[in-house]
Amino acid sequence: MSKIPEGPFRISVFRRAHFNAAHRLYNPAWDEARNEATFGLCNNPNYHGHNYELEVRVTGEVNPETGMVVDMKWLKELIRDQVEARFDHKNLNLDTEEFRHRIPTSENICFVIWHLLRPHLDPSLDLHVRLYETPRNYVEYPAP
Ligand code: NI
Repeated sequence: MSKIPEGPFRISVFRRAHFNAAHRLYNPAWDEARNEATFGLCNNPNYHGHNYELEVRVTGEVNPETGMVVDMKWLKELIRDQVEARFDHKNLNLDTEEFRHRIPTSENICFVIWHLLRPHLDPSLDLHVRLYETPRNYVEYPAP
């Protein structure tokens, strides 16, 4: 007899995605000097781009009927429809509702993406979103 238990068990599945977007970090309530001191190069008035890498983690119990936590094709299409279609090749400050009045830092972008995805997932599933602004700078929401 196999010693492998029948389950049920919890597991995480991951899906990576990618988008390019431009942004400018500034607080309209501050003067130029304070914006430049706080945001540095990201305060460039003519905007600049990043190649954002997104990692979506969905955690939950494997459905014994399918052997899956969530259908990966469905998750891929959800990220495409909710995130890539909205932000890819956009100027986040000028082209998106979400960042018209919200500073498009990695922290805020990650938080927004979580809230765009969350309503579409079964409440029993946990969602974590990690966003890489560069290979070395990244954020995760909710904080682990
Ligand atoms: Ni930047």
